[in-house]
Amino acid sequence: MTGLLELEEVARSFGSLRAVDQVSLRVAPGARHAVIGPNGAGKSTLFNLIGGSLRASSGAIRFDGRDITRMPEHRRARLGIARTFQHSSVFLRETALENVLLGVARHAGVGGSVTRAALGRRHLLDRCLELLDTVGLAGRHAAPAGSLSHGERRQLEVAMALGAEPRLLLLDEPAAGMSVAETAGFTELVAGLPEHVTVLLIEHDLDVVFELADRITVLHLGRSLATGTPEEIRADPEVQQAYLGATDLEDLFPPPEAGS
Ligand SMILES: Nc1ncnc2c1ncn2[C@@H]1O[C@H](COP(=O)(O)OP(=O)(O)OP(=O)(O)O)[C@@H](O)[C@H]1O
Ligand SMILES: [Mg+2]
Repeated sequence: MTGLLELEEVARSFGSLRAVDQVSLRVAPGARHAVIGPNGAGKSTLFNLIGGSLRASSGAIRFDGRDITRMPEHRRARLGIARTFQHSSVFLRETALENVLLGVARHAGVGGSVTRAALGRRHLLDRCLELLDTVGLAGRHAAPAGSLSHGERRQLEVAMALGAEPRLLLLDEPAAGMSVAETAGFTELVAGLPEHVTVLLIEHDLDVVFELADRITVLHLGRSLATGTPEEIRADPEVQQAYLGATDLEDLFPPPEAGS
């Protein structure tokens, strides 16, 4: 079966460092596919290569059967690849609604003042309110993003990304720094995304990973160590062996302290 996203021996070096090293990966349409691995494993770099903010040193990347290896970032976005960042990237002084408008208006090809554009186009405004509702921020549209809690900002980022009508959504450590309650809400949000949005998720919190993912890829030192179902990954001796002394995946990637 062909994947929505296919990576073939993709590599990216920074000087002598092979941050991503010959990674092959297939993400099926509709998948909830998680990428796990210790700090520095190359996870975010892999996302940058897929999203197009970084160019691969070698290898091939295909999206929906099309070779996008050398395609610039904005064209990949237009094909339906959207992402959230490891470090929150909302416009703090704008309201939640205005932040989402930016994503939606850009996608709809509306130039000029975002607010003016929305005022003139009721359907854009409705779409934004609907997106805020989808991510659980229905009552917060008038709040400046800077006044939102950490978890709410991450919800807002998902709404912004969804505004681009993505077919592939890349989430880089969305639950990092969230409280237990926020993490639970966020997990529910991702689980409830429509199936036409394929999700590729980097996450250290293994409870989130095992709850959401139907496939897991383990990255280690830039290399893809294993890909399989959650059960296969838990039981994989190579995964266990790669981390001396670890008897349980929880020991390999301990989740960050809640609320820290
Ligand atoms: N732009 C860059 N220039 C030089 N080195 C980089 C660059 N980006 C990443 N690296 C290096 O590449 C390696 C992989 O980094 P990356 O951010 O992809 O890891 P990660 O798996 O996302 O880690 P974390 O879990 O800490 O987010 C690291 O050694 C990092 O220092
Ligand atoms: Mg990272």
